[in-house]
Amino acid sequence: MRYTRTQAGKLYFSTTTVIVTEFVKMSTCLCIIFIQKGGNVKEYLNYLWHGIVTEARDTFKLAIPSGIYTIQNNLLFVAVSNLSAATFQVSYQLKILTTALFCVLLLGKRLVKMQWLALLLLFVGVAIVQIQPSDPTKAAQEKTSQSQSAYTGMVAVLVSCISSGFAGVYFEKILKGSSASLWLRNVQLGLFGVFFGLIGMWMKDGDDIMEKGFFFGYTKYVWTVIGLQAFGGLLVAVVVKYADNILKGFATSLSIIISTVVSVYLFGFTINLQFCVGAGLVLIAIFTYSQPQPKPAPLAETLPNGKQREVSKV
Ligand code: C5P
Repeated sequence: MRYTRTQAGKLYFSTTTVIVTEFVKMSTCLCIIFIQKGGNVKEYLNYLWHGIVTEARDTFKLAIPSGIYTIQNNLLFVAVSNLSAATFQVSYQLKILTTALFCVLLLGKRLVKMQWLALLLLFVGVAIVQIQPSDPTKAAQEKTSQSQSAYTGMVAVLVSCISSGFAGVYFEKILKGSSASLWLRNVQLGLFGVFFGLIGMWMKDGDDIMEKGFFFGYTKYVWTVIGLQAFGGLLVAVVVKYADNILKGFATSLSIIISTVVSVYLFGFTINLQFCVGAGLVLIAIFTYSQPQPKPAPLAETLPNGKQREVSKV
């Protein structure tokens, strides 16, 4: 993403890529549903009509996470354009903590102290891994590649952390609170996503797009960003369905470690002490979080002689 935003030459409108990404995800989900219905067009259309129009109340529930994700997906472009890739990645991991907070507030999930500590360790570990001493020539190139506003970038990434936590948990609540399929939910999400995306595009770049065209500045790298965003988005949906948002944070953190190790072989990255400390903290965090938690104290009743007697829970 950062590479495509910092190249010289024609710069594409990021607001259009948010819409195209939503469109790609929605089309993929429509195809999956079609295959699930055995290619039976009548059954397929009936299913969509029932799920989207007849159950309109449910459909409209998706407007909230969809609107928030649209803002977030646009803000991420602001963030990567104004911060270095590493600073962006580190600060965006704060979503691990905002997600846990919204899990407690919206889903009533209970986390014991050790689990909060594990989440904090996870954030610190990922941050340490990512704040690697940078190559001075590369850093200078990055700085001069475009005028950056660290303040704007930071605000964008912090708002994205809050929105990621809230929208992720809200989507989990909707998904797990009904029997509707994940793919149908994502079609509903995508419908609003395209709608809100068009409003955002019109407000921010409407005049310029009228002049230069919707696909102005699209290169193969821009299409790659769209592909990655679409695939990543659908992956988030699947992870939320089969696991949960907090585990998603752990999976992402582990993937950061794995990609760093892989870059030893691909890009000649040298593993240093800082990486080992950070990776160690992430592993400790995963281990601590997944430890079986102590059962709540057994209920007890006071006998006439003043002694306590344990009673079994009904
Ligand atoms: O960083 P975070 O995990 O919050 O990223 C969520 C991304 O996944 C967003 O780009 C959002 O549009 C996408 N998403 C999706 N379908 C879902 C949930 C999230 O496409 N059901």
